This record gives sequence, structure tokens and C-alpha cells, in this order.
Amino acid sequence: MAFLTEDKLVIVGAGGAIGSTMVQTALTMQLTPNVCLYDVYAPGMEGVMEEMFHCGYDGVNLTATTDVAEAFKDAKYIISSGGAPRKAGMTREDLLAGNCKIAEDLGKNIKQYCPDVKHVVVIFNPADLTGLVTLLYSGLKPSQVTTLAALDSTRLRSELTKKFGVKSSEITGCRTYGGHGEAMAVFGSKVMVAGKALSDLIGTPEFTQEDWEKLRHDVVQGGAKIIELRGRSSWQSPAYCSVEMIRSVMGGEKFQWPAGTYVSNDKYNHIMMAMDTTLDENGCTYKMPEGTPEEMAALDASYEHLCKMRDELVTLQIVPEISKWGEINPNLK
Ligand SMILES: NC(=O)c1ccc[n+]([C@@H]2O[C@H](COP(=O)([O-])OP(=O)(O)OC[C@H]3O[C@@H](n4cnc5c(N)ncnc54)[C@H](O)[C@@H]3O)[C@@H](O)[C@H]2O)c1
Repeated sequence: MAFLTEDKLVIVGAGGAIGSTMVQTALTMQLTPNVCLYDVYAPGMEGVMEEMFHCGYDGVNLTATTDVAEAFKDAKYIISSGGAPRKAGMTREDLLAGNCKIAEDLGKNIKQYCPDVKHVVVIFNPADLTGLVTLLYSGLKPSQVTTLAALDSTRLRSELTKKFGVKSSEITGCRTYGGHGEAMAVFGSKVMVAGKALSDLIGTPEFTQEDWEKLRHDVVQGGAKIIELRGRSSWQSPAYCSVEMIRSVMGGEKFQWPAGTYVSNDKYNHIMMAMDTTLDENGCTYKMPEGTPEEMAALDASYEHLCKMRDELVTLQIVPEISKWGEINPNLK
């Protein structure tokens, strides 16, 4: 059986909904035989191990532990969904303090047990902030830590697919940038629907301005809709897209959606948010998104929203003030 790499992949939160689905997806995609499950809740993880054995995968070397030192030893890739999920009526931001404390530990554990890790994907919410805190305390380079921000873009394409009744492959250029929260910036100006520019379709009787506003609202509320329908936070799509991200940095197929990445330039700084990214064996690189003045203003607003949450982390003493970040991680000066 041909695996993409032999490198060790650690799934953090492996006993949970997203984590267990990631284990299965990574094995099904044949990314690496060496998959290690790590969770603080042993029975859940044991159940996942049993299920994976019952799948009957050939040639895999699955391990599971609640000991972080053992889990992270020799890890080359980590994906973490190890944190609390939101429940009905909660926003992602409601998880800020608890999950960012977990992110601080995650970063410190990476620094202590696997400083040679190649790439880390952070999923647990609010992912822009948990990813930022993980990067800060891990000592890794900005190109080595990304967050799952793709679902807002896949949801944009999915809503347009439903609306226009065309194949999803006929809809291109769907992008949301900025935070993976309710203040995300939905970019429609580069979207093509079966060869026609979406911007030319908006305002026609077939697709009125109100229809477009409702569709954008549905994109932003896509995660909440899953909680409403299934009684819990989404798990299949975050698992799939995160494993696709790690496949891409392992040198596999190119990841086609935006990732959350560390941004520090003239306009936005000391923040993690979705940008126009490329993921490959060198990690993550980004370009500034291009859009209409309204879209860029929405991105500015999303950035401001993230800055407020970042500043709250300073008040909560989870991170020090920005001027001191370089002392913890010299890559973030
Ligand atoms: N970024 C995204 O697009 C996106 C989408 C959906 C869900 N999420 C987030 O992903 C996270 C996980 O969701 P889920 O549905 O799998 O939740 P879950 O409760 O099913 O699983 C979480 C698992 O993490 C474990 N865990 C908790 N703290 C841990 C720690 N410190 N170290 C290791 N493991 C720990 C728990 O024991 C549990 O098994 C949530 O924060 C959720 O909000 C993100």
C-alpha cells in the first residue's frame, strides 16, 4: 500500500467527533501509516481505536495515548480539534477563554516535545485565536501553523450550488476571508457561476440583491444550521478539510480553499485570519485578498473584531502584550 509519507501524524482530540473522523479520513486517504491518537478522555479514544481496528485497514501503525509527551515525541504533523465545541445558542467567541488556555498548553507542549514538527493545523474554536495562541507558545514559524477557515468558503459554494442548480465544479472563486466567526468577510466579486460573473447576476430578477444578502447570511450561519439540524457542532466537513490541509503540506494534492494564517504587514498585524493562501511542503504562504471596496471594508471590520478578541486575551493574561511576543517566539517580532 502506498502512503504519501511515513512521518508521524498526531490527531489531538482524537476521541471526539472531529478527531475520530480525521483519523478515519487520514487512513482512508493513505496519508501515513503512522497515526497517533491523543486525547485527555481515554474511553472515547479507546472506542475510536476499536472502531478503526474493526475497519480492517491494512499496513497501518495506529497508536493511542493520554500522555502528551509520548504522543508528541517525533511528531511531524499535528492536527488539533482538542477543545470544547459550541452548543446551540453559543457563538464561537463564547469559547474564547477556555479553549485559548488549552491552546497555550498545546503550544508549550509542541515546544517541549516536538520542536521539529513540520506543520500544525488548529481547528478548535475560536480557531483564529486558538491558532494564534498555539503559534505564539510553540515557537514555530508563522508558515508552520494554520487554522481551519475553509468551511465558510465551501459553504458559499454550496449555497450558490443550491441556488443556481449547477454542478459545484461550475462555481469557482468562492472565498471568505478574515475571521472564522460571524464577522467573516464574504467575497463574491471573483465568483463565476457556470461561466457568468456572480456580480452580473446579483440584482437580476433571478437573483435579487435581497437574495444575495440572504445567501450571505446563510453562509455565515452555516455552522449554526448544522447544530440546529444535527443537535451538535459540525464534524464531518471540518475533519475532511483539515485532513486535506495536512495532505497538502505533506506534498500531496493542492488545498483549494483559504487557510487561516499569521498576518503581519502594513495593514493587518499580529493576527491570524483567512487570507489568499497556498499550502505546500514549505508550509503556508499568503497574498492579500483582492476585492471591491465594500469587500475590503468587510475584511477591515473582520480584522478589527479579531483584534478585540486578541486584546481580550491580553486582559485575561493568556498572552502578554504584543511588544513582548518576540521574547516568547522570536519568529513573531
Ligand atoms: N474551525 C472550524 O471550522 C470548526 C468547525 C467545527 C468545529 N470546530 C471546533 O472543533 C472543536 C472540536 O469539536 P468536536 O465536535 O470534535 O468536539 P468533541 O467534544 O466531540 O471533541 C473534542 C475532543 O477534544 C478532547 N479534548 C478536550 N480538551 C483537550 C485537551 N486539552 N487536549 C486534548 N484533547 C482534548 C475532548 O476530550 C474530546 O474528545 C470545537 O472547539 C469546535 O468548536 C471548528
